[in-house]
Amino acid sequence: MGRESGPGMAIGSNGQEKLMSKLSVKHLLGIKDLLPEDIQLIFDTSSTFKEVINRPIKKVPSLRDITVANMFFENSTRTRLSFELAEKRLSADVINFSSSNSSVKKGETLLDTVNNVLAMKVDMVVVRHSSPGAPHFLAARTKANIINAGDGTHEHPTQALLDAFTILQKYGSLKGVKVAIIGDILHSRVALSNIFLLKKMGAEVMVCGPNTLIPRHIESLGVKKELSVKVALNWCDVANVLRIQLERQDTRYFPSLREYTQFFGINKAMLDSLDKRIMVMHPGPINRGVELSSDAADSSQSVILEQVENGVAVRMAVLYLLAGNN
Ligand code: CP
Repeated sequence: MGRESGPGMAIGSNGQEKLMSKLSVKHLLGIKDLLPEDIQLIFDTSSTFKEVINRPIKKVPSLRDITVANMFFENSTRTRLSFELAEKRLSADVINFSSSNSSVKKGETLLDTVNNVLAMKVDMVVVRHSSPGAPHFLAARTKANIINAGDGTHEHPTQALLDAFTILQKYGSLKGVKVAIIGDILHSRVALSNIFLLKKMGAEVMVCGPNTLIPRHIESLGVKKELSVKVALNWCDVANVLRIQLERQDTRYFPSLREYTQFFGINKAMLDSLDKRIMVMHPGPINRGVELSSDAADSSQSVILEQVENGVAVRMAVLYLLAGNN
């Protein structure tokens, strides 16, 4: 992609540029707000960027002169590094903020913190926060493009986009693909964003876990509910296995981790017993030996590291397309 390639332009494989449509949103706050056409545009753009980052020269000048702040008020490995790399691959200027060593510890508010960062001429803010709605709060009160990198138990839109992009690369379409989301559905922003996205794009979705970790009325989102992992694994083409989020649990939802693993843990022997070869996903971080055994996580059916690889291309696409909407 040439220097003159601005946001809103796509790059053909011959290096030439062609016009493409824009996202219907200024911010990426959640999958709930996106149209299927937005999601398709992000996938198409991600495919282009996946090609770009597999070239010897991985960097393009698309976001030169754009400054992005990565503001993480909650721990992260994958999302933070993936956004930072995506921004650098697009030639953006990048600043990183972590609340644990910031003036938040002295009592500064979220809005004051972000407004001080924006005063330094920052254009886009990637924010992770433990409070659901924090990115929406900022989007309503600032001029920057806001990207939700995970807000409490609410949404994690780029995770759902990279999960679905990984399925799409394998199956060619999301329509009719059967995805079982297995584990702690109640506390999972990944589950909710995945459900919204997969339903919008025509996939079939089942949630599975202990009854205490499945929200009441989940079926109103158009998903099936199943309490038996064996039934869920036999039904699905793709198992997206989620972590037990002990840090968000202020009460006991099951007797012990050992019993959780006994009834809901997935191992290689269970995968081998199925009469089809399913794809195993996990957003990370994995509690090895709890929701997923090492022999399943590291098996040839696992696409966990492909998800991470795709995350960079998907986040490049999101940043690029949102910058084009300014
Ligand atoms: N999947 C995910 O959000 O991982 P991190 O918490 O490490 O960013």
